[in-house]
Amino acid sequence: MARPVEADVVLACGEHLPAVDVWIVIDVLRATTVITRWFELGGGDLYPVASTTEARELTSRLSSEEGMSRPLLMGEENAIPPEGFDLGNSPLDLSREIIRAHPCGVMSTSNGTIALLSAAATGTPVIAACVRNASAALDHALSVGQRLGLLCAGRRRRPAWDDTLCAGLILNELRKIHPEVILADSARLALLAWQSSQGHLLESMRTADHAVFLDRIGYGEDIDFSCEQNVASIVPLLYEEPEGDGMRAILRAVLGNARQYPPQPTPGPEPEDFTPLLQYAYEEGDTAHFFLGKNRRKG
Ligand code: MLT
Repeated sequence: MARPVEADVVLACGEHLPAVDVWIVIDVLRATTVITRWFELGGGDLYPVASTTEARELTSRLSSEEGMSRPLLMGEENAIPPEGFDLGNSPLDLSREIIRAHPCGVMSTSNGTIALLSAAATGTPVIAACVRNASAALDHALSVGQRLGLLCAGRRRRPAWDDTLCAGLILNELRKIHPEVILADSARLALLAWQSSQGHLLESMRTADHAVFLDRIGYGEDIDFSCEQNVASIVPLLYEEPEGDGMRAILRAVLGNARQYPPQPTPGPEPEDFTPLLQYAYEEGDTAHFFLGKNRRKG
């Protein structure tokens, strides 16, 4: 008899990590959303590191390696770009042009990259998930094993509403596939968070402490972008490669087979103002992404 699917949620990085078959790491605002966007736009290897100092050192070392172009150095401290970084941590700052100019990236954030590295240290497969790739990430996790661990980055080692909400969204999807899933108490809490939003994800997400803070410092659009559900079928996975006498974590992506991707268009003629955008897609050959409306950004 097949083992039942089990789901456990760690509400904040720093809590004990139980034994699971796969970690789904969540930092919706904004590290795992940025990571997913990086790969959506065709990004190459992405190195998550635990501090801005290490990020600068790794960028410098990779830049000096034979045949290596300079990595894109990105991330945040208190949500803003650290001194000398190429980009901060807004998913809207990424574009195809920037990514083409930097075939790899180095990323350091307050909570998200640390959560990824904590999960990697357990030796268990690690997936980066957010609202944008939730179904694809879940599908991939289920292909790895039955004991799913959702690791919420949280905020300053405390539970965060945004990540807990996203964990609940994923668990809600999981229960549709496996109604018999066994939920740990923390997973039940995350599911209750999702259910309390009654489907109004963006409205609920905007009440998160970090969302309020981001909005106040001018990153409100990042919240809307981070709440676009299942618009990406990209699944970032964490690999480790030998480096000196240790291991280096590297994110690479596979294309998932998210059930909802691409979202089915509403029937009826394309409104006039979409024509130029659709033309852009065909010209760029970017038919992998679907136009969801005015908010389609030239990536
Ligand atoms: C985090 O690591 O929690 C996020 O990167 C914070 C942010 O992007 O503002």
